[in-house]
Parts: sequence; structure tokens; C-alpha cells
Amino acid sequence: MNTTTTPQLWYNVRIATLDPRVDAPYGLLDDQALVIRDGHIHWLGPAAEQDPARFEGTVVNGGGRLLTPGLIDSHTHLVYGGQRSNEFAARLAGDSYEAIARRGGGILATVNATRELDEAALVQTALPRLRALCAEGATTVEIKSGYGLTVADELKMLRAAKALARQVPVRIRTTLLAAHAVPPEYKGRSDDYVDLICRELIPRVAEEGLAEAVDVFCENIAFDAPQCERLFETARAHGLGIKGHMEQLSNLGGSRLAARFGAWSVDHLEYLDDAAIAAMKEAGTVACLLPGAFYFLGETKLPPVAALREAGVPMALATDCNPGSSPLASLRLMLNMGCVLFGLTPEEALAGVTREGARALGLSEETGMIREGMAADLLLWDLDDPAQLSYEFGPQRLVKRLLAGEETHV
Ligand code: NIG
Ligand code: FE
Repeated sequence: MNTTTTPQLWYNVRIATLDPRVDAPYGLLDDQALVIRDGHIHWLGPAAEQDPARFEGTVVNGGGRLLTPGLIDSHTHLVYGGQRSNEFAARLAGDSYEAIARRGGGILATVNATRELDEAALVQTALPRLRALCAEGATTVEIKSGYGLTVADELKMLRAAKALARQVPVRIRTTLLAAHAVPPEYKGRSDDYVDLICRELIPRVAEEGLAEAVDVFCENIAFDAPQCERLFETARAHGLGIKGHMEQLSNLGGSRLAARFGAWSVDHLEYLDDAAIAAMKEAGTVACLLPGAFYFLGETKLPPVAALREAGVPMALATDCNPGSSPLASLRLMLNMGCVLFGLTPEEALAGVTREGARALGLSEETGMIREGMAADLLLWDLDDPAQLSYEFGPQRLVKRLLAGEETHV
């Protein structure tokens, strides 16, 4: 990322900082100006203290429009081969996600298609999904592996995910999700597969800097809590962050376990219980809500949003973009679904794709808020009220997108 651009002064903007230190909904500031230097927010203060005529650098008149932090998609599986519209049709006819998975479809169908593609082909197939997210304002996107399930194929997926950042201006964070499904070669021997991940994959990924975190699918159709515990111990020993697909289809106690390891986030959470919520609060673990998967799978059990809110657990919101349970590459749609389906307020929803999304990726000090010292990942919208971002879906209202202070086009 080139961060040695000309300094910029932005004025005549409504700034939704999302900074909890600012005592207003959305951390909203009017009559303020912003100076960007070396890719960062260098100064934020009263507009009256800056004279645009004397500023040495580029001066931007925001026209009274809304400025927000860049959006963060903290949970995606957007690198994969093939597509699964056949399963969509089967589910519409009454089949279930779990039943399809048990007969070798679902994740394993995508594993077969992903193993057939090389790194370059994976990048090509992922590009439209990544561009769609970025065109709507995403400036940080997390991408998981998990459709390779061999050492070579998991590494290939992570390399493809990292390579995407060379084609699209975006921050990419990658997560090793080798424990997504038991690969066919290890059927009935899932402990041996967990051994392989702990002995070979995690050390290799940490050494080569190919992922920042380790994720697991803790579920009856995937890995049990003791197996997840071993994976977390190994991840921690290698200095990687911890995340988990938890309590999506049933409650195996995965969230409580992950909180014990200081997880960055636990995700899905439809079956989350009160004891886990208390543990998450204690550990500072983010609850990452995925309304796209809830909607697309026709779930009826809601994640316990009111209890999370009451306990003060931070809530992120993400697309879960993947070929099976959430073939959706739109954070704007998630903002709307987060409110309509899960009962988030528009302010909670926006915090979920900015400040709390950053926290779910261990990036709280870098991005997700408009505050001095943070990266200048900024969006200028042709909107007055930040609630409109959750309210209206369809029209494109993004006027400018800045990544580390640089205006970008995707
Ligand atoms: O987050 N729950 C497990 N993994 C994905 C679905 C992956 C797939 O169906 O391909 C999820 O929903
Ligand atoms: Fe997921």
C-alpha cells in the first residue's frame, strides 16, 4: 500500500466516526475537518481551525455529505471453485443443509471443485465476488481457506487469497479453516486429520505468514469440542488469532471454549447460551452475526441478540460469502438483514461492519473507526443520515472510497 501520497484536508463533511469516545449516535461529528497524511488520519478537529486556502496539499470539499470508516467484512469464504445451485434447488424442495452434507455434498462438493483449480484460477473465480464487496465500500475483507483440506490445497487457497490483494485495492486478512470438514481421505479418522493440521499445517502457515488466524467448524457434522481445543492450543502456541464457526446448527459449547482461548470472534451463534455469553464478555470475544446464512438456509432460530446487547458483547456483522449457505457478496444487504432479521439497530449494524468487524480481525488499532492515528480507510456517501446505509438497499450511494488515504476505483 502506497502511503506517501500528498496530504489531504477534508472539510464540509458529516463524519460518522464510529468512535465510542465521541458522545453521539454513530460518533457523529458535524463542523469538523480531517487531515490525512502518510495514509493515516493525522488530525481531526473543528473545521474553524483549518484554512483550506492555506493548506499545503489537496483540499476536498465533501459537499456536506456523509463520511464513514471503510466497511469491513470479517467473515468470508470467497475463494472457492464451482457453485452449488443444485443444492439450493434441493433445499427448496425440502432437503436440509445437514442431510446434503452427510451424503457428501455441501462443503465436500466445493472441496472437489476447489482441488481442481490452481492458484491463478482460484484468484480469477474469486475476483468478481471481491470486487462486488469493494464496490459497495468494503476496504478490509477476511478470507478463509477450508475447501482444500489437504496441506497443499489449503496453502493454495491461502496464497490465492493473499494474491487477490495485488489485483484489488483492499486489505485482505486470511484465516486457516482446515478444520471445516473431515476430508474424504480421513473419513472415520477425524482425529488423524486434526493431527495433520496441528503437526504440519498450522506451523507451516504461521512460519510463512499465510494466515493471521485459525478457525474451526465446531459442529456434529464437523469437529467436536476436544478436537477444537487441540487446534486452538496449537494456534495459540504459534501466535495465531483464534476464531470459530460456533453454535450454528446445535450447541456443542464451542463459543465458551473459544472464549477461554481469548478468541477474536465466534461466528453464527444461533444456538448460543447464556453461560457462553458471559464467557465472551469476560474474554472480549466478538459475536459475529451472519444473517445471510440464516436467511439463505431458511433458519428460524435467531441468535440471542438482546442477551448479547444486554451483556455488552461486541457484535460484528459479516457476509459469510460462500457457495453453500450464503452466496451473497453484499455488506449493504447484511446491514439491512442485520436490522430486519436479527433486530439490530442501524447503529449496531454499522458498527458491526466497521469498528466491531475490525475487532473480530484483531485490527482495532488500525481500522474501523475515524480517529487520529487510524488508517485513512474512508467512504464518502451521497447520504445525510448513517441509518440510510441499513435502510435502503440497491442504489449505489458511494461517491469516494479511500484505502490508506488513496482514492481507489474497483
Ligand atoms: O459459514 N458453517 C460452515 N461453513 C460455512 C458454509 C460453507 C459451505 O456450505 O460451503 C458457513 O456457513
Ligand atoms: Fe462461514
